[in-house]
Amino acid sequence: MKPLSIGILGSGKGSNCRAILEAIRDQKLPVEARLVVSDVFDAPILDIAREFSVPNAYLPPGKFRTRLEPTVETELVKMLKAAGVELVALAGFMRVMHEPMLKAFPRRIINIHPSLLPKFPGLEAWKQALAAGEKVTGCTVHYVDEKIDHGQILAQREVIILPHDTPESLHARIQVVEHELYPAVIAELCERYSEENR
Ligand code: GRF
Repeated sequence: MKPLSIGILGSGKGSNCRAILEAIRDQKLPVEARLVVSDVFDAPILDIAREFSVPNAYLPPGKFRTRLEPTVETELVKMLKAAGVELVALAGFMRVMHEPMLKAFPRRIINIHPSLLPKFPGLEAWKQALAAGEKVTGCTVHYVDEKIDHGQILAQREVIILPHDTPESLHARIQVVEHELYPAVIAELCERYSEENR
């Protein structure tokens, strides 16, 4: 099977990026990581890319807070296409995708979110679940569309909320599950795409 070329976008600590790059290194994923891009200059995710010798770039996001400036988003498309990226994995990327990216990568952008969507989209979803008195939360991998944490769901895993959970303890347990789920979903997509091309 020809390896699937992926690009990873993130704004922060990059633990999901690390999980994906470790799965590739350990030959659990028939994937080649072609590029890691961050909209935050000193984001740890860029250090992780360097640690794994994956080409990486800081992309100055422009003047908006929740999205990339349109010219910047077009530049991002060019960078990803030039790197031969076929699938884009958002890993803690804090900006909403718009037309340039969505048109260039139709059903080829995925995201991981720390709740059982459609419950608790948006920021700090684990805190939202705690505040709502939920007994169970979890994480979701989904295709990305123009809405926040929305789009066809690919897979979900549950995480039980314990009586003594703090936001920190709950988020930490969700992240452990995220690190298994995200590479597993990417592995499934590799199979699906290679079957589609047969
Ligand atoms: C994860 O919890 C993910 O679900 C959300 O952002 C967080 C990113 O964490 N979209 P990390 O940067 O991968 O550690």
